[in-house]
Amino acid sequence: MKVLFLTSNRNKVIEANAILSNLGYEVEQFLVNGLPPEFIEPQSSSISDVSELKIQQALELISETEFENHALLVEDSGLFIESLNDFPGVYSSYISKTIGNEGIINLLADKSNRNAEFRAYSILYKNGEYFRALGVCSGSISTQIKGTNGFGFDPIFIPESGDGRTFGEISENEKASKSHRGKSLRILYEELKPPSK
Ligand code: IMP
Repeated sequence: MKVLFLTSNRNKVIEANAILSNLGYEVEQFLVNGLPPEFIEPQSSSISDVSELKIQQALELISETEFENHALLVEDSGLFIESLNDFPGVYSSYISKTIGNEGIINLLADKSNRNAEFRAYSILYKNGEYFRALGVCSGSISTQIKGTNGFGFDPIFIPESGDGRTFGEISENEKASKSHRGKSLRILYEELKPPSK
């Protein structure tokens, strides 16, 4: 079954496909004439509210188009750092593009608490029904940028369930098995599965 993912972030599509393709879903970026559609990045104080606004926009975009009967996926995610009162949180995308990983490491220079978590809130719409799931990955912020895999804050995030390497140093599959995105998509998949007889 095909799922259209409304996002301008290709990395999210690759990661979602790595997870849902094992489960029989084919995730494709939602493109119109080869480009992500004009889309207003919603602003809100919580990732769940942002996702709700994204799915409503996605539904408006596909109404009365050839995509009308496709399943839709949206997601909002962010990095929440404990000693910074959950900053950058919903501002993660902007902060990643501006001060970047170096900037986050500098902000934590005098902090002994480096705990952080990634959160992803996904909504999948299929045949008039909504499926929602929050995935959380606990960890900490490294003192140095390490690794070149993944995107965004991956080179500074050390997942608690790992061996000390950052997400930037591990493979896509290993990240998917631990990440907030992986968790939220696996919850969605469980919700989508028909009940076993
Ligand atoms: P948005 O969900 O498109 O608003 O973007 C969330 C932002 O959080 C991204 O641009 C990244 O900076 C950061 N982020 C979310 N998930 C990840 C991840 O899996 N790895 C690294 N950074 C992430």
